[in-house]
Amino acid sequence: MMRQPKVGAAQSSPTLPTPAQGVRWTTPIVETPGIVVLGSWIWRLVRLLVLLPFRFPVMVASTTLVAACWWYLGGEGLAALAGVLATVSLVWWRTWPDSYRYCVTWRLLAWWRHLVVYRRHWQPVLVIAGLAESYQERRYLPRIRSVACNARADYVRVSLVAGTAPTDFEHRVVELAHGFAAPSCRVTVNGPRDITLEFPRHDTLAEPLDTLPVPENPDLSALPVGKREDGTPWKLRLHGTHVLIVGVTGAGKGSVLWSAIRAMLPALEEGTAQVWGIDPKRMELAYGRELFARYADDGESAVNLLEHAVASMQERAERYAGRQRSHTPTKTDPFVLVVLDEVAFLTAYHPDRDVRRRAENAIATLTSQGRSVGFCVLAALQDPRKEVMNLRNLFPDKIALRLDEASQVDMVLGEGARERGAEAHLIDTTLPGVAYVRLETSPSPVRVRAAFVSDDDITAMANGYSADSPSAEEVG
Ligand SMILES: Nc1ncnc2c1ncn2[C@@H]1O[C@H](COP(=O)(O)OP(=O)(O)OP(=O)(O)O)[C@@H](O)[C@H]1O
Ligand SMILES: [Mg+2]
Repeated sequence: MMRQPKVGAAQSSPTLPTPAQGVRWTTPIVETPGIVVLGSWIWRLVRLLVLLPFRFPVMVASTTLVAACWWYLGGEGLAALAGVLATVSLVWWRTWPDSYRYCVTWRLLAWWRHLVVYRRHWQPVLVIAGLAESYQERRYLPRIRSVACNARADYVRVSLVAGTAPTDFEHRVVELAHGFAAPSCRVTVNGPRDITLEFPRHDTLAEPLDTLPVPENPDLSALPVGKREDGTPWKLRLHGTHVLIVGVTGAGKGSVLWSAIRAMLPALEEGTAQVWGIDPKRMELAYGRELFARYADDGESAVNLLEHAVASMQERAERYAGRQRSHTPTKTDPFVLVVLDEVAFLTAYHPDRDVRRRAENAIATLTSQGRSVGFCVLAALQDPRKEVMNLRNLFPDKIALRLDEASQVDMVLGEGARERGAEAHLIDTTLPGVAYVRLETSPSPVRVRAAFVSDDDITAMANGYSADSPSAEEVG
């Protein structure tokens, strides 16, 4: 092939290419004529003016009204308009406060926050967080579509840059939250290239949550146990799963256990559910002793209870075999919740090796086979490390209360949970009962707070109900 003479670059660089470089081609630089630049500016200005009433109809209409008033009626007209508006606002605000808040307050606040928080800091925060993309030396930023507000949070709707994914944002929630001075950030996917970032304006879980009312007809797959960060109820599934609650001492494991038991009370009274309790520390469950159909505290009796649960479960599974694939709670076949406080006492700390081995076997059997026949293990644990609890993966649902170390978050909630914003190691010591959970509906962990069940509440629960009543006969 014939060598081509070098074009363009030869003029700018006097040195000739070395033989190793060969011949290089470069694109000639053509200067844009001034008239083209001016034309493009004028075109942009005209387009902006034409589109303005469509993009910001309220703003354009009100500006036009003010200008027209001033033009035709002068200063007095403007004052009269302000007076009318103020009166209408006042009457509206006093008479229909909800609609006023929805139509005026939140919209004004959203407009203000869009301008002074999000638009102002958008570029630096996204570039530094690594969410801006570069292509052919041009920088592409995700675009803010709209900002909306309610009493609790700001919702920033964002168009993604083509070729990026919502997970890029999910992995940067901590940077985004700090960047926009919010306590946290949550990503919701609305559709292709369309996400919403939710920034709470204050911590809605800062105040302790009082004991929740007992539901009339408890749904064992959605028991109200607390509140989510967005103000909606936190509902815990027990039927058809097993739940592991992890948190350091004082993190509030007891409040989750008791809230779940409390929400089940009508089912316990009816006899369609039973709670079997194991409390090695004798500090947590002993209070409501009367609520438990079976109860154990020392190692030997705890293991016996667990083995009894395994036997009942296997007997039930045998009866169901080939006839029934799922369990519906009845008085003859009630749902059995095995509550285990400080499970590591049995699986790791008990001095008797035989007790440890038997307990581990029984828990493993219950968690791997009990789901579909109406047995659920609800266990509390302080230290999630493998040496202490190697059965944690047998629990499909996990709750991370305050933890000691950042590395424990992923141990509890699964890989990537911390990157997606589950900062359980940073939960304040003054916020017991606050936790991160993964919900079935969303891959991002959700911050929640369990309702606090006081000793008096537990006593009242136990007085109003006794497991010795005829409805709570033994299972199996
Ligand atoms: N949901 C809650 N809301 C408010 N305060 C709470 C909540 N849960 C617990 N507390 C407070 O924190 C204290 C410790 O809670 P709790 O005994 O449940 O912790 P724990 O995780 O079970 O600790 P340990 O592992 O030592 O048993 C309680 O005495 C109570 O004062
Ligand atoms: Mg406890």
